[in-house]
Amino acid sequence: MDPEYLTGIEEIDNQHREIEEVAKAVIEAVEARDKWHIVHYIVVRLYELLRFHFTVEEAMMRITGFPDLEEHKRVHKDMLQIVERMKSATLSPDLGEDSEILKKQFSFLTHIVDHDKKLADFMVENVTHLKR
Ligand SMILES: [Fe+2]
Ligand SMILES: [Fe+2]
Repeated sequence: MDPEYLTGIEEIDNQHREIEEVAKAVIEAVEARDKWHIVHYIVVRLYELLRFHFTVEEAMMRITGFPDLEEHKRVHKDMLQIVERMKSATLSPDLGEDSEILKKQFSFLTHIVDHDKKLADFMVENVTHLKR
């Protein structure tokens, strides 16, 4: 993970690392044209990780008084909706035929923690004073 996204809160930083890994696994599975149930399984894993992570992150933002909480929550909601759609899309046994479209839809996954930049900066400045 790029150091500029580190918050200095170990739990959050570890969750980000794991989310990035699983997101990468989704992209690799689609590129390798893996069978639909393999791709679907990884997308479900990603969805569960994100749901848990967003809850933790939103609680942390509330506790620390992060100023852009509402906007950030909206971004989380949108992302969850996209991944939820991916969950349904990957339920199709003809996944191989759609893999180009899927690859395009999934491209945002390579930047999955980028929306946390402001939050990471806020945590470093106000809470953890991490040297990155
Ligand atoms: Fe976030
Ligand atoms: Fe996050």
